[in-house]
Amino acid sequence: MCGIMAYIGKKQATPILLNGLRRLEYRGYDSAGLAVLQNDNLVRFRAIGKVDNLSEKIKNEKLNSTIGIAHTRWATHGGVTENNTHPHSGCDDKLMIVHNGIIENYREIKKELGDHKITSETDTEILAHLIEKNFSGDLKDAVVKSLLLVRGTYGLVAIHAKEPKKMVAARLGSPLVIGIGDEEYFLASDASPILPYTKQVVFLNDGEVAEITENSLQIYNLKDQKVKKKIEELDWNEEQAQKQGFPHFMLKEIFDQPTVFEDAIAGRINFEEGTAVLGGLNMTPEQMKSINRIILIACGTASYAGQVGKFAFERLAGIPTDVEIASEFRYKDPIVDEHTLVFGISQSGETADTLAALREAKRKGAYIRGIINVVGSTIARETDGGTYIHAGPELAVASTKAYTNMVAILILYAIQFGRNNKLSLATGQRLISAIKEIPEKMNLILKQNDKIKEIALKYKEYRDFYFLGRGINYPVALEGSLKLKEISYIHSEAYPGGEMKHGPISLLDEDFPVFAIATKNQLYEKMVSNITEAKARKAKIIVLATEGDEEIKHLTEGVIYVPPTMELLEPLLNTLPLQLFAYYITVALGKDVDRPRNLAKSVTVE
Ligand code: G6P
Repeated sequence: MCGIMAYIGKKQATPILLNGLRRLEYRGYDSAGLAVLQNDNLVRFRAIGKVDNLSEKIKNEKLNSTIGIAHTRWATHGGVTENNTHPHSGCDDKLMIVHNGIIENYREIKKELGDHKITSETDTEILAHLIEKNFSGDLKDAVVKSLLLVRGTYGLVAIHAKEPKKMVAARLGSPLVIGIGDEEYFLASDASPILPYTKQVVFLNDGEVAEITENSLQIYNLKDQKVKKKIEELDWNEEQAQKQGFPHFMLKEIFDQPTVFEDAIAGRINFEEGTAVLGGLNMTPEQMKSINRIILIACGTASYAGQVGKFAFERLAGIPTDVEIASEFRYKDPIVDEHTLVFGISQSGETADTLAALREAKRKGAYIRGIINVVGSTIARETDGGTYIHAGPELAVASTKAYTNMVAILILYAIQFGRNNKLSLATGQRLISAIKEIPEKMNLILKQNDKIKEIALKYKEYRDFYFLGRGINYPVALEGSLKLKEISYIHSEAYPGGEMKHGPISLLDEDFPVFAIATKNQLYEKMVSNITEAKARKAKIIVLATEGDEEIKHLTEGVIYVPPTMELLEPLLNTLPLQLFAYYITVALGKDVDRPRNLAKSVTVE
């Protein structure tokens, strides 16, 4: 996630670009940069940290330009350095681009560029050089020609000093909005920076390229055919714009999941080899083979992602794996040694307990690695490798998209370890194919939003809930239950289905509903028996079932269907309806969804 802002018109570009970047800072604030056209040359300024640093750097420059591009960065490829900051240029600074997304095949492209002088570690710079190479007088043609060679995602804006009155933008997977003013155009990653100037916008769709001058806008597809677009009138205020029209960050982040899941896996899976390639692991195949135990350390939602990871590591790689609550681990004098691999899983990368537990494991000689969302965070810096989950900024306190991306990365690591051990090529390939289908299946679930809302509203008056799941779906039940209790304040607990009869069932009656996860896997029949037991105690039952399971309907007042997938991947789909269920109950109860009482997004105290 990064933020893009661009302007072409008659006004001074620099203040518009800086103000725009400030509104986009929620998308990343590792570094910021801009390039404007000044006396027929492109001049570029870049600074580490927040947009204010960039503003400070250029405050004494006499910039007098009416066209420019700008970017606020959330580091993915390459560390937080000025060289890695956008805009990126080709060899001679005539062409500059800002880019949001990931160019998966940048290494291959780099090889083919030959003697181009590369100065950063970013995938974006490679794209800039490719466009430079393809430029022969027409920027739009050069961009289209280059994008046809690219695999990955992009929202990008390019300018060229030899075509000074033009800007070219393109989108595939990363958003871009074009604001239409009076003989001026604004481009941004979301509408919030555009709203102070105009409410007339065009949303670029995937595969579209825009060619813009101060008094013309023409959209093309990648076949270079003209596309007619509808101009839309926004009636959003600015906060709504940051939420991209969603009423709350939590709902926006739930709906972000298909896109950020693609970001998590982009460039990290290899179908031919039936494996995942997470270079950040920073271990040789021999070191990987020497690992006889994995410990996943985390708090809250991250620890439930860890529980899914445990299944994956044990099943695919055959390595005994424990999930440890960080605040417990650090005080239990843990037994770890040089054959133990410890992953710290954390959205913020700042959770004090997780950090302290990792330090303890390191002291005792284990390998420590991070599975982290926030780039450059303390845990990311203190571990000796690991992987960013690429979920983008998560602003709602209740974690949603970070959870699914943590699960995704854990499964990829399990495949990587599995293929280094005994996992067959065929199973590896089946997993990779199934993983690729996840975003599309997530979208099918999100399309049932209204139906899930309808079911949630029927249950808003209840004061207690059980969530039941078995096997891989027990962690899903734990996460669904946590979501509900932390934002709606309804009491909720999760149990493995088979454990009900050993105590919890005594609480059940008609006022104590049960949300059962009963998708079609090896434990389906067992789960159905557990649902029947709960129903016999008069509990109202909501069921999450696999599409096509008509049988289950007789046990429940509300059924939500999810598409089938491989059993290990079920949490990547099954969690989404539970997030929506918690969300809609909370909204109906009038509670503060994004900022629940007593909680904090990042807990940096013990
Ligand atoms: C807090 C948040 C939770 C989160 C947990 C771990 O309690 O409210 O949503 O799961 O911390 O945070 P981390 O940043 O380490 O994933």
